Amino acid sequence: MKSPLRLAILPGDGIGPEVTDAALLVLHAAAEQFGIRVETETHPIGYAAFQQAGHPLPPKTREAVLGADAVFLGAVGDPRSDEIPPHLRPEAGLLELRKILDCFANLRPARTYEALAEASPLRPERIRGMDFLIVRELAGGLYYGEPRSIDRKGPEAEAVNTLRYSTQEIRRVARVAFGAAQRRRGSLVSVDKANVLETSRLWREVVTEVGRDFQDVRLEHMLVDRAAMELVLRPGYFDVILTENLFGDILSDEAAALTGSIGLMSSASLGTGAGLYEPVHGSAPDIAGRGIANPLGAILSMALLLEHSAERTDAARAIEAAVESVLGAGMRTAELARKGERAVGTQEVAEAVRRALG
Ligand code: IPM
Ligand code: MN
Repeated sequence: MKSPLRLAILPGDGIGPEVTDAALLVLHAAAEQFGIRVETETHPIGYAAFQQAGHPLPPKTREAVLGADAVFLGAVGDPRSDEIPPHLRPEAGLLELRKILDCFANLRPARTYEALAEASPLRPERIRGMDFLIVRELAGGLYYGEPRSIDRKGPEAEAVNTLRYSTQEIRRVARVAFGAAQRRRGSLVSVDKANVLETSRLWREVVTEVGRDFQDVRLEHMLVDRAAMELVLRPGYFDVILTENLFGDILSDEAAALTGSIGLMSSASLGTGAGLYEPVHGSAPDIAGRGIANPLGAILSMALLLEHSAERTDAARAIEAAVESVLGAGMRTAELARKGERAVGTQEVAEAVRRALG
């Protein structure tokens, strides 16, 4: 592990800064407890950066992330950005960030907590035991494909996006997913739309080929529409799910909803450079600044950072256990609190996780 571990912290927009503060509180506590030296530098991204510097990923932020060992991001997005040109919107900053870090494998773990079995929209007996990992391709597909355009010159407007995947792009993310399956329960479901799309047919071919190097992993191919259905019918069936960028975006929100709250879901984006860690929830402008956002997705993303960018599984597992014990003690942020239950604020949850760390 690099010491000190140099972190670029990008709080971003909406609830991003609040959940980032909560995650930093837990990070510093864990760092002290486990003897990890960290150095942090904070930089703007998203709408906040556009306001300050005229660009959602300003040169200074860019430089900082390229020099960092790992990057932590709160959230980007602001309703006021609807009026600005697409390439200056907060989301464009995030996509550019993923691209320059070459984070091609986005890991999104989804699991239920015994204490939250009631919070899921599914019946407790159906949701119990759900514990899977989505590996979403993050640097290609429709998000980045060229050509892309909207043409409004003719009588009818026409828009184009391009879905393109190369063997190499599929292979590298598949290897990450197979590796993860090896360390988990040895089963991988690769999701595509091979009955319609050429990109999916190549996807299937390459994933099958990569699978030959991972004989201990059971590989199954599943069409994306069926996968969306199986996720609600049999969430406990899945171990690792591998899929392309857009399918992964959609299925991971579905998975987040199954856990009971999108506020719980964390992510790690890995590639050739520094890892990028962000909660899956967005900037939630409707509740920003009120101190009621769920910080657990951010805190769990910090645990993923310690695991993947600092190789400190011990510290990561301790944070995860602390989160579980805080939930077990009945602490609930507003979106999870039931009628008559007291909702606990962002800061208070973070303090509780810190105490539970011991
Ligand atoms: C996510 C988000 C982003 C995505 C948006 C904000 C561009 O929905 O991280 O899932 O689509 O990747
Ligand atoms: Mn999404």
